[in-house]
Amino acid sequence: MRIRHVAAVTGALMGLSALALPASGAQAAVHGHPPVVVGHRGAAAYAPENTLASVDTADRLGISWVENDVQRTKDGQLVVLHDTSLARTTNAKKIYPGRSPWNVGDFTLREVEKLDAGSWFGSRFKGERVPTLEEYLEEVEDNGQKLLMELKNPELYPGIERQALRELRRDGWLDSGHVRRRLIVQSFNADAIRKFHRLDPAVKTGFLGSPTVADLPKYAAYCDQINAPHIAVTRKYVEAVHRLRGPHRRRLEVYTWTVDDAKGAVRIAGLGADGIISNKPDVVRDALDGDRS
Ligand code: G3P
Ligand code: CA
Repeated sequence: MRIRHVAAVTGALMGLSALALPASGAQAAVHGHPPVVVGHRGAAAYAPENTLASVDTADRLGISWVENDVQRTKDGQLVVLHDTSLARTTNAKKIYPGRSPWNVGDFTLREVEKLDAGSWFGSRFKGERVPTLEEYLEEVEDNGQKLLMELKNPELYPGIERQALRELRRDGWLDSGHVRRRLIVQSFNADAIRKFHRLDPAVKTGFLGSPTVADLPKYAAYCDQINAPHIAVTRKYVEAVHRLRGPHRRRLEVYTWTVDDAKGAVRIAGLGADGIISNKPDVVRDALDGDRS
């Protein structure tokens, strides 16, 4: 964790004790081991999403897995940001008033680096930046964490699959240790995931969505996970996914999002989900009685 993040993260965590729930009624997933807990956009309930402070907050909470969203600037740099536009999570409107709709793809990295990506969430996060993917990977690596990396709106950024792979390789994330245990790449865009899988079949992949049971075998050709919204997850659906094997000949998995309360986490675990993606990963972890990552 970088020193400049410690104060903000510590401040954020001081307010958390009221949110932490006692471990109770924990239920293992029906297949015998409880779900992996993934911090959504870092720990988005407690720190500005997709910033290094959010990653560090998840780390301080003892959360090993973090999720992020990768997009591209006008000059071809990969950055970590959820919305297509910079408007909601930075001060782009103020700094660049004439640049509506402030799409990240219309700004150079140099311009993006001038933006404050923390103050909108809380004054103690003033000065947080939109991280490049390289900076983000370094932070996750330094913290010893693991990454569920989303290619966000890849249709806007032709070639981003190959570029993301290049970046992962350059930053040491494609060695066998990372590929086996510390990296999953997901997207709502099935074509992008299929392409990513073809480019590097070793990397574990996930499709974001809930395809019909009849369509699941098609996805199992190039996805290791079906990562469905929690409202779409039923025991029958999980069982249908589990009946299939993914490209690495392992049972297809279900990670689900976004579950932020203890009751919901226990329910989803009881349905047999393999992972739960949460803005409050500590709440989910505590409800399931321990870190499952
Ligand atoms: O990882 C699941 C989740 O991130 C998908 O939705 O919109 O938060 O990227 P979104
Ligand atoms: Ca995401």
